[in-house]
Amino acid sequence: MTNSTSSQNRYYLTTPIYYVNARPHLGHAYSTIVCDAIARRKRAQGIDTWFLTGTDEHGQKIERSAELAGRTPGEFAAAISAEFRGLWDRLGLSYDDFIRTTEERHKRGVQKLFATLRDKGFIYKGSYTGQYCVSDEAYVDGPPGTVCPDCGRVTETVSEENYFFKLSAFERKLLEFYDANPGFMGPESTRREVISFVRGGLKDLSVSRTSFSWGIPVPGDEKHVVYVWLDALANYITALGYGSDDPKEQARFEKFWPADMHLIGKEISRFHCVYWPAFLMAAGIPTPRSVKANGWLLFDQGKMSKSKGNIVRAETVQEILGADALRYFLLREIPFGQDGSFSFDALVQRYNSDLANGYGNLVSRVVNMVHKYFGGAVPETDAETAAEVSLRENAERAIAAFGPEFDSLNFSEALKALWTLVAETDGYLTANAPWKKPAERSEADHVLLQARVLVTAAEAIRIITALVYPILPDSAAKVWRQLGQGEIAEAAKKSFLTNLTWGGLKAGIQFGEPAPLFPRAEKDAVERMQNIEDQNSKSVIEAAGGSPEPAAKAAAARIAAAVPAHIEAAKAPEVHVAVPVAAVPTVHAPASGAPAAVATEAATAQEPQHISIDDFVKVDLRVAQILVAERVPKADKLLRLEVDLGYEKRQILAGIAQFYEPEKLIGRKIVIVANLAPRKMRGLESNGMLLAASLPDGAPVLAGFLEEAPLGARLK
Ligand code: MSP
Repeated sequence: MTNSTSSQNRYYLTTPIYYVNARPHLGHAYSTIVCDAIARRKRAQGIDTWFLTGTDEHGQKIERSAELAGRTPGEFAAAISAEFRGLWDRLGLSYDDFIRTTEERHKRGVQKLFATLRDKGFIYKGSYTGQYCVSDEAYVDGPPGTVCPDCGRVTETVSEENYFFKLSAFERKLLEFYDANPGFMGPESTRREVISFVRGGLKDLSVSRTSFSWGIPVPGDEKHVVYVWLDALANYITALGYGSDDPKEQARFEKFWPADMHLIGKEISRFHCVYWPAFLMAAGIPTPRSVKANGWLLFDQGKMSKSKGNIVRAETVQEILGADALRYFLLREIPFGQDGSFSFDALVQRYNSDLANGYGNLVSRVVNMVHKYFGGAVPETDAETAAEVSLRENAERAIAAFGPEFDSLNFSEALKALWTLVAETDGYLTANAPWKKPAERSEADHVLLQARVLVTAAEAIRIITALVYPILPDSAAKVWRQLGQGEIAEAAKKSFLTNLTWGGLKAGIQFGEPAPLFPRAEKDAVERMQNIEDQNSKSVIEAAGGSPEPAAKAAAARIAAAVPAHIEAAKAPEVHVAVPVAAVPTVHAPASGAPAAVATEAATAQEPQHISIDDFVKVDLRVAQILVAERVPKADKLLRLEVDLGYEKRQILAGIAQFYEPEKLIGRKIVIVANLAPRKMRGLESNGMLLAASLPDGAPVLAGFLEEAPLGARLK
């Protein structure tokens, strides 16, 4: 994968801006760490670099999350945005600017962009009736009940008067643009997917919403808010100063735009490779030079995400192994652009083999020996022998390989090349054993050998350290001091780290004190990290009044991800736990397997099985109202229902078609098990189960209420 470089001596790169409905997890950290490593290398190459990150704070999804937490969207967004920024600071990420889409500078820029598009005739008013996925903030083609092709959630029907962007006018222009700029999108899978999406035909895009208000008002028509993706994508220009009257800001925009690289997760390539260039072309603003997609970090088989509840936090890894260990693992283990699995076991294994026993141990041996045999001062050396020539050539090969691999985003290959040199240096030390004087070697010859071997090994370490600095900035800084080279940040500024030639370690330089780099991780490291994650989930679940049983882990993580600790516990959403049907003795699915709930028969011959209150609270029973009910083609028992829980709408399949006419169910209030794991039937996803009494002949009677029961109220 190539990363097209800019002709000027400046580089602008961005991360996606993160939604503030969830607290940061390793998935978010991954994209930001990749950008940080790139930014550090660019700066070390003497390139004037601008690295932007930030948070995406508007839209229906955030408005609803805030409501669930009992906070205003503004308060909620501010709290989570601060968590992202705080974490990036604790991880030492070197962003130059952090934009929040709720800032005035952004609002001003978005309104200018919208007005420009309208003035140029690319925005018109129309009406939209169709499906919308709130989770992805994306319009989806298809009839009511269509499942979002990206996240699998049921879409909502939206019928609104909207402003539309003439996306259809850009179909040909975009295809020509991709053709003329083969390096624009990567990896190849993303490129193919985007091109086939555009070839499939582009429809005009609705770019405003009226059914909620948490967004940037459309200039001149304030009952509309700007569609959240148009709002969000514009961050890349508003942060630089687009829309500002301040000449300094305008100059920054002129200097850094167009971006050299937008680094994104692969799931948002359509927004970045289709909508974004089309908006810019329409507004007469240059398009970015490249958009590169990272793959997904998987954990427990699935994409790490708040909604799956399978998250790990970067803080946990940082606490036990340090931020550099996390950076190394992510860049070494996952070929950029592909999905990669995260596991504590793999992390600890990689840490011990490559960092503790590999690079860390090599540095410690050499620095200690220079202190022991030469009082810490780099000795003069005599001429190279074949062994030194060979190590020097290996180092030169590593230098030649590292840069191009790194700059093509093949971080894993770049690191492999460096770690080959770590192993070769280790081998060279062992073969020449400067700590052992054979009886036949004279004292003077032995000192000469010690000097030659230690200086050669230290020089290889200097090369490895200079190159690895963007990936291991803290550890490289420590090693640099131990090698008597001073502050690595200063060396980076002077481009010493990238203009590397063999032989930079000069005689007479005094080494710094040896200091531990990567203490070996003991057997319990995995357990300790797991415990921290469990504790984190547990504390949130307890705060929410639930029980921290293992079955609740996924849900706990989901809540931990969604609610900042400083948002009052009492306001935290209730615990939603996916409970297998069999684990809940009073409710079971009928034999057909359809999750229409039918309560067990009144009497059974079996002993009653007691469950504790903790077990009971795991079942999230809620009041819901049926909005849509229809038969499922070729399934005579099944009805497809769309139900409203007040805080969200969803699709449920129920095996009651032989007993209830669908039309008669519309508007009826029912009880559903809201936290049942989703399942697919006849290609449709069912997200929950409704409750009914089961008559002796098997006929169901739906549970309901005599008094008014608000939607979403919990039954307990
Ligand atoms: N707000 C939008 C982006 C707007 S950019 C103009 C958004 N936000 S997000 O918070 O849902 O995700 C943003 C990014 O986080 C992903 O594109 C990806 O870069 C990163 N990741 C989140 N989870 C991830 C994984 N499990 N694995 C890898 N990256 C992940 O989409």
